Amino acid sequence: MRNFDEFTITEAVLQRVAAAKDLRTRQISEALVRHLHSFVREIGPTQGEWETAIDFLTRTGQMCDDKRQEFILLSDTLGVSMLVDAINHRMPEQATETTVLGPFFVKDAPELACGADISGGMNGEPMLVTGSVADARGKPIAGAVVDVWHSDDDGYYDVQRKDAVAAAMRGRFHTDSDGRFWFWSIKPAAYPVPHDGPVGEMLEAQGRHPWRPAHVHFMIGAPGCEQLVTHLFVAGDQYLDSDVVFGVKDSLIREFKDMPAGIAADGRKMDQPHCHLRHDFRLKARASMRPAQAASCLTVAR
Ligand code: BEZ
Ligand code: FE
Repeated sequence: MRNFDEFTITEAVLQRVAAAKDLRTRQISEALVRHLHSFVREIGPTQGEWETAIDFLTRTGQMCDDKRQEFILLSDTLGVSMLVDAINHRMPEQATETTVLGPFFVKDAPELACGADISGGMNGEPMLVTGSVADARGKPIAGAVVDVWHSDDDGYYDVQRKDAVAAAMRGRFHTDSDGRFWFWSIKPAAYPVPHDGPVGEMLEAQGRHPWRPAHVHFMIGAPGCEQLVTHLFVAGDQYLDSDVVFGVKDSLIREFKDMPAGIAADGRKMDQPHCHLRHDFRLKARASMRPAQAASCLTVAR
């Protein structure tokens, strides 16, 4: 077969990829070719625009290393990450809603006892976070692993600070026998996603700002339950309706309540005001489990 033109090329490529042995690979390849060709037909790019697109993708790849993932940022800012999240986390009503993981999660964060201060000595308004973890029916889960991370008062994560020597504003806690956890830190600020690369150029060209509303990240796991990846957003933040990565859901917006100096909710004596974030999380039973297995999600998870 030869002499393909703009009317016959799509069918020719589809026939070629139909040879894929793996069915899922064939399905994905065929959809890719169909959608990509129809995208190109719709926009009818000039040769120069095609070169610009190749250059954009090349630079996006070149920007990636073990600290920076420009392709994930591209997926985030085009709403693809939240679409994948939505498809994969159709939550029962009682379960806590999910949102994007983001690039600032660090495996092996310090394991800390409840009540620890994770601010790492950073300046900011003290913040007490108290919460609980339960299954979707409301039964508390003891021993659930709660990873938390957030930005500082200036909107930077510890991993973005060149002078950072130790983990700050991140930690790993385990829920107590009543499914509760609590810790101290500083109130996070809104921040722009990294926008000094190709994704920043794209946002600028699209007339968009790079900001995310202030939030605290949570990753919560327990045996028999789906791992929950979510954030809690600061109510009233100016970017709640224009989050650059489309991650905000109403159920995740919380009051970070202003509290006066005095005895805090965890019994600590505070000589200055602080804010208090409280939230009860509910985990969804793992989908692949039969009801009997899923019941283990309801029991103590040590
Ligand atoms: C974050 O919240 O950490 C984040 C999420 C997506 C892209 C950039 C940052
Ligand atoms: Fe974040």
